[in-house]
Amino acid sequence: MKINIYPTAEEADYAAALRFTEIVKSVIKPKIGLATGTTPIGFYAQLVKFYQKGVLSFKDMTTYNLDEYIGLSPDHPQSFAAFMDNHLFSAIDLPAAQRNIPHGDTADSHLEAERYNSLVEGNSPLDLQLMSIGLNGHIGFNEPGETLSTSAHLVHLTEETREVNKKSFTQGEVVPSSAITLGLGAIMKAKRILFLAKGDEKAEILKQAFEGPLTTKVPGSFLQLHPHMEVFLDKDAAKYLTVNINVVT
Ligand code: PGA
Repeated sequence: MKINIYPTAEEADYAAALRFTEIVKSVIKPKIGLATGTTPIGFYAQLVKFYQKGVLSFKDMTTYNLDEYIGLSPDHPQSFAAFMDNHLFSAIDLPAAQRNIPHGDTADSHLEAERYNSLVEGNSPLDLQLMSIGLNGHIGFNEPGETLSTSAHLVHLTEETREVNKKSFTQGEVVPSSAITLGLGAIMKAKRILFLAKGDEKAEILKQAFEGPLTTKVPGSFLQLHPHMEVFLDKDAAKYLTVNINVVT
């Protein structure tokens, strides 16, 4: 793993977006894993700028989001489907038929997780997975626990995750208690991972994930095993890291 550390969050976003562009241009029909949350917002804004400048096109990509809340339809403002429309899809040339997100409004979550797993893993791995980490160490919605799943699955969100994610919901609205997430299998099989994290609040969990032991209590710790992961951090998020670091000035 190569950990690139930038003076500011904006510079980390820009560098990650440049690398994303370089990688997708080297693949004929790229299968791309996308993420939601506050972390990728600036990164997606950069991708939109590259698209507007004509240096990046999405028309040959197929995208697969990591996760979606159960109980929210794609038009619900807090669904990850709506997030993707707002921050990326509505501004780029990615055909609607090539955007994939688990169906949060499914009548059978287990069946939907199975369907989504086959769709993503299909006949070939993801060419690139965009990744961040939650404050409790989750990746996608693979929450800390006694075990981790390889396949996409229904997950009951921890109270900590629901509390953190409240920031995206209006006051009084209930954060869904469950979600469908890709498992560690699709994530670890991705040919490349671009990992992004910013801000002081991520510093402690990054130290545990990148320099601590592998443990299901910190699902992100398994990313240490990925052979082609490139990490983009700002200096606040990176402040406790000492191994494999490359400080960009
Ligand atoms: P955040 O979430 O970007 O909102 O911090 C990251 C995550 O939960 O993976």
